[in-house]
Amino acid sequence: MSIYALGDLHLHFGCELKAKAQMHDPVWREHEQRVMSNCVRTLSDRDVLVLAGDHSFGRNMEACGPDLQFIMALPGRKVLIRGNHDMFWDAKKTAELNRRFQGRLFFLQNNYYAYEDTALVGTKGYTFEGPFYVSRSGRITGWDREEAGHAEKLVERELERLRISFEAARADGFRKFIVFLHYPPTSILEKESGFTRMAEEYGAEQVVYAHCHGETRFHDSLMGKYRGIEYRLVSGDYLRWQPLCIRK
Ligand SMILES: [Fe+2]
Ligand SMILES: [Fe+2]
Repeated sequence: MSIYALGDLHLHFGCELKAKAQMHDPVWREHEQRVMSNCVRTLSDRDVLVLAGDHSFGRNMEACGPDLQFIMALPGRKVLIRGNHDMFWDAKKTAELNRRFQGRLFFLQNNYYAYEDTALVGTKGYTFEGPFYVSRSGRITGWDREEAGHAEKLVERELERLRISFEAARADGFRKFIVFLHYPPTSILEKESGFTRMAEEYGAEQVVYAHCHGETRFHDSLMGKYRGIEYRLVSGDYLRWQPLCIRK
């Protein structure tokens, strides 16, 4: 049994494609087939596949139905994290989604997923992505205060949700954790954040995240070992649609 992770499937079988850049970058060409064939080749039904957000562009359950069907057809036990594009998933109605898809999909929000002695915890997360003001020499000299203030509020809410997830697992006796976020754990140029501090506080072994697309964004946040935690980016285009094994 192993845990694999992959993010940003950006499916749109039943709705219009919203990310236009996706149409022009060759990495996205027929990516759905590559996701399916790589997963079939790599995973068994006993493995866990964590999909780290941005599953579907469908705005409601009806529009994202074919996308969820595609996800259900992937091998393994599927655990889903909310992404910024996942409009079908109201965070407050996660329990309802879990009832509806019981035994087929697990929606990770204000709860946790048990894998042997380890709890998979997580939430969407949030980071400030600019705009930044840059000097002629390329140095960042400031940023949009209003937008940064708004981002701070969203970060606070997401931190509360992540703590609920950690505490639910801890109350059931778990002491080992892997954290999943959709957004990167830190804003551009930062080396720590509320998310990294919380991961350290609970002694998480890894922080796995997605959301970063294209060469210019792949290195927006932490990667590799930092302060005892392994940070891994699993956005689909970064991994070329090959799910990453994060625990053997
Ligand atoms: Fe995405
Ligand atoms: Fe995203």
